[in-house]
Amino acid sequence: MKLAVYVHVPFCKSKCVYCDFYSVVSEKFDEYFSHLLREIDLYEEVLSESEIKTVYFGGGTPSVVPPSFLKMVLEKLERVSRGFTPDEITIEVNPESVETEKLKIYKQIGINRISLGVQACDDTVLKNAGRLYKEETLKKKAKIVLEQFENVNFDFILGLPGETDITLKKDFRFLEEFPPQHVSLYLLEVDERTRLFDLIQKGLVELPEEDDVERRHDLFVEFLKERGFLRYEISNFAKPGKKSLHNLFYWRNENYLGLGVSAGGHIGRFRYVNASDLKEYEEKITKGELPYEYVHENTEEEEALETVFMGLRIKEGVELNRVKILLPLLEKLQKKYPCYLKVKNGKIFLSEDGMNFSKKILSDLIEWYREGGR
Ligand SMILES: C[S@@+](CC[C@H](N)C(=O)[O-])C[C@H]1O[C@@H](n2cnc3c(N)ncnc32)[C@H](O)[C@@H]1O
Ligand code: SF4
Repeated sequence: MKLAVYVHVPFCKSKCVYCDFYSVVSEKFDEYFSHLLREIDLYEEVLSESEIKTVYFGGGTPSVVPPSFLKMVLEKLERVSRGFTPDEITIEVNPESVETEKLKIYKQIGINRISLGVQACDDTVLKNAGRLYKEETLKKKAKIVLEQFENVNFDFILGLPGETDITLKKDFRFLEEFPPQHVSLYLLEVDERTRLFDLIQKGLVELPEEDDVERRHDLFVEFLKERGFLRYEISNFAKPGKKSLHNLFYWRNENYLGLGVSAGGHIGRFRYVNASDLKEYEEKITKGELPYEYVHENTEEEEALETVFMGLRIKEGVELNRVKILLPLLEKLQKKYPCYLKVKNGKIFLSEDGMNFSKKILSDLIEWYREGGR
């Protein structure tokens, strides 16, 4: 079985106001990684049948951890799996914690893709977001990352407090000066559990107007397309040959193992999410248990629904053969959105315009499914 492996590294130097990914401001790396290695042992059966094709160190901030910990994880995965032939090993890095020396070690241990969290290129926007670097550092770090690696992603968030048409132009100038091979362009989501939510509630922070953010999003998409990036997923843009192979496992609803606190996985029809609290995660591993907080065995229909839900995010779409059980529902959906949903060569996919309208289309799909309208 071909497998993607996600490894969650839950450490950050400080917490950004908008972020609801699980992370802690701590340096208890030893303890955490010894649990992670034990978790890998608990998957001996799965891994001994698997060929690992991608590994992704995500966070949190994996670049705050000494690379020797990451090396231990990779070596262990290699030892216990049937095949370890990853085409892609990615690490998420933050501008303030990345340096040339570290990047060189990453290369030595097999990492071949860097994802740099840029978010924005304006000091005020960065400060409002709780980021620890300024535009000047960002540029220095972007330069050294691009010097060391040929497969680099930059993450951006649109809609952060303080964003204007002028700050957008700064993003563009930054990308022109430091062109990566891949860009992830997210729209800010404000979760109730974040500091940003509280600040907005108290009237201490104001978000930019939604219409302005949408307009800037369209401009950003145009900007990327004009510079040779293919929008191959709703929020992801790649130069030819530089799609994220790891994330394609998610979008194609293939097999992936999630390791570490709060990580999720999907093996066959089995879905799980690990404990989302470090203490709980470590306690379960210490008892020799898989650290699950949620498990579910999908029915054939649920599996197909997930495959459609994820697959409609990518330009290549979903093979109808894989989701036969949902064909009547998909036909109904296509009748409602003939311009946005297309069928060709046995695949159903969103048109370019459809990608901008995906929220509505996917929410209809879920609603009809729940109503039993297959
Ligand atoms: C798991 S985060 C961690 C990456 C890294 N620690 C950093 O901060 O750059 C991965 C990406 O998710 C995006 N992200 C995080 N919180 C978000 C939010 N509330 N809304 C939209 N995008 C978000 C950011 O672009 C971030 O780079
Ligand atoms: S955005 Fe990145 S650095 Fe900021 S709190 Fe989240 S994981 Fe940590």
